[in-house]
Amino acid sequence: MSTPAPLPPMSLLAELTHRCPLQCPYCSNPLALDGREAELATADWIGILDQAAEMGVLQVHFSGGEPMARPDLPELVRHAVARGLYTNLITSGVLLNAATFRPLAEAGLDHVQLSFQDVDAGPAEQVGGMKGAQEKKLEAARIVVADGMPLTLNFVIHRDNVERIPRMLELARALGARRVEIAHTQYYGWGLVNRAALMPSRAQLDEATQAVEDARARLGSSMTIDYVTPDYYADRPKPCMGGWGQRFVNISPAGRVLPCHAAETLTGVPFPDIRTATLAEIWQNAPLFRQFRGTDWMPEPCRGCEFREQDWGGCRCQALALLGDAGATDPVCTRSPHHDRITAILDSLPADPPPFIYRRFGNAPGGER
Ligand code: SF4
Ligand code: FES
Repeated sequence: MSTPAPLPPMSLLAELTHRCPLQCPYCSNPLALDGREAELATADWIGILDQAAEMGVLQVHFSGGEPMARPDLPELVRHAVARGLYTNLITSGVLLNAATFRPLAEAGLDHVQLSFQDVDAGPAEQVGGMKGAQEKKLEAARIVVADGMPLTLNFVIHRDNVERIPRMLELARALGARRVEIAHTQYYGWGLVNRAALMPSRAQLDEATQAVEDARARLGSSMTIDYVTPDYYADRPKPCMGGWGQRFVNISPAGRVLPCHAAETLTGVPFPDIRTATLAEIWQNAPLFRQFRGTDWMPEPCRGCEFREQDWGGCRCQALALLGDAGATDPVCTRSPHHDRITAILDSLPADPPPFIYRRFGNAPGGER
């Protein structure tokens, strides 16, 4: 058993805002979205970037919501670059044009990760809930590539777009992306709410996996293809976040410091606030971070399992969402005594999916949380 001494986090996910022109029903943001009035100020983020650099963080991912909704984004990028951090912008692209991109490039932005909902405007804009979004995204991709900045495209996969993976890969290649993520929906936040409308069948998953393997064989090293599967169909869980409180730290728009994007679903433990403690203190000592770090917290069967330092018992937020206990073995694991919960969910997927519940302020089932 071991609880490793916490090395500094490798990556900081800076969720600058939950505001976003899109409304994707698989968004990983929490159901209780932070409003503009709750957002950290520019000076708060500058201080966070300083602290992150001093701790030895290597990368900062500016995310949201839509981080380009923050007018101070170029200033934050410039500051991060000056502090030696690798900077990645995770964006929907709908606010990225020649005028808004220039200050980011001049600030030294290293990389753009651009999300697409689909290859064709019709289904893409039905999922994103914004008319005209697809053309803006295509233009955003062209601007980034023309600048010479590395571009990753991200496609979130679900039952309604899974058969278009070959065309998604072709679009990424045609646009000049260096990397593409074919990422099946992960069932947290709004994705969990919409699970019955989004989850592919086993046959669809197998077809998707084959399409990715075929494209990898065809394209070789000319474009990297990352493939993320829906772990409900796996035998072993993913090592979520590379282990709780071991590699990643998230900061929410309102300043809560979290081990992952879904940690706000936990109850009974205070959420550390970057305005009342330093990042280093929180990382090392906050009960939220210590709670599931390493292996000492593990129940059986994880405690005696040979994989415990590979997958770290899976995902705490998934165990909480599906079993009501964040300290349980992730039920995705076939060794979990509750794996039948996953089987039951997959067995009961409806033939006719329900309508989407779109991600927007005030639209969460049961109120804001
Ligand atoms: Fe991972 Fe626990 Fe399953 Fe072992 S029993 S594979 S450690 S989730
Ligand atoms: Fe929170 Fe996996 S999403 S631990």
